[in-house]
Amino acid sequence: IDGLNARAIAAGKDYFGSATDNPELTDAAYDGIVIQSKLTPEKWDAIEPSRDTFSFSNGDAITDLAARNGQKVRCHTLVWYSQLPSWVKTGGYNNATLISIMENHITKEVTHYKGKCFHWDVVNEALNEDGTYRSNVFYDTIGPSYIPIAFKAAAAADPSAKLYYNDYNIENLGAKSTRAQNIVKLIKQYGAKIDGVGMQAHLIVGSTPSQSAQVANMNAFVNLGVEVAYTELDIRTNTPATASAVTQQAKDYAATVGACMEVAECVGITIWDYTDKYSWIPSVFPGQGAALPWDQNLKKKDEVYKAILSAL
Ligand code: XIL
Repeated sequence: IDGLNARAIAAGKDYFGSATDNPELTDAAYDGIVIQSKLTPEKWDAIEPSRDTFSFSNGDAITDLAARNGQKVRCHTLVWYSQLPSWVKTGGYNNATLISIMENHITKEVTHYKGKCFHWDVVNEALNEDGTYRSNVFYDTIGPSYIPIAFKAAAAADPSAKLYYNDYNIENLGAKSTRAQNIVKLIKQYGAKIDGVGMQAHLIVGSTPSQSAQVANMNAFVNLGVEVAYTELDIRTNTPATASAVTQQAKDYAATVGACMEVAECVGITIWDYTDKYSWIPSVFPGQGAALPWDQNLKKKDEVYKAILSAL
């Protein structure tokens, strides 16, 4: 985006990209700003709204656009408790049936996008804040092995895609990061492949972990033999943002981007859309927002943009 991807690549990273979603693709002004590395809306409710009936058109719109522009796509996400259709959530399936439903979903979706997704977020948000496993239909029915089973199915369907575990509040050392490290070990113990851990990085202005803390955290994952990436970066504040909040936000972006630059195995950064116009924050955290480097009117926030650029 606006030189950020080129700078990241020149510095040895794979990408600096932005998420996007289907609704904003009809906004000509939005599309006028060139985005590298997009992220698809391939969530279960959109892709398999009823059992074994697949609907790939919205996802295809994004992979087709990326193909036309020579962009990479991180695909998100195969197994998640949210944006999960009720036929899965409340279907009351037994262990064997739910495993086959999950494997079928993964196999058909990953096969459809084979060669188009360079990363897959295979399992998203499996942990509570204290690091225990989050109760969801997969965990409650199958137990923790649903995670390695999902990774095995994804690897079989596209052996060359990089497979990620993805979660939030794992950008600093602590209980949740420790248990995410345990998920990496669990997957490997089952003989399945995991390539990376995605740290969503939905961060807060003024309470973003320091650069050195983020580096130490990433190294804990890297020491287990996986790569890492920032996958959904945004740094929110109370709105309207004050001038001093924007100055702090620029520092927090610089610390996060700078941490990735310090760790060779941190392969790239995705911001969770590039403009406040299409940010998810105000709808989920009322009174907060202004989390991205471009504002509501698609105007670049110079202070934040320059902090990111010079950290790359
Ligand atoms: C959010 C999207 O940004 C919204 O448009 C959608 O309505 C809900 O999901 N963690 C994730 C993402 O992994 O999938 C979520 O994305 C934000 C939190």
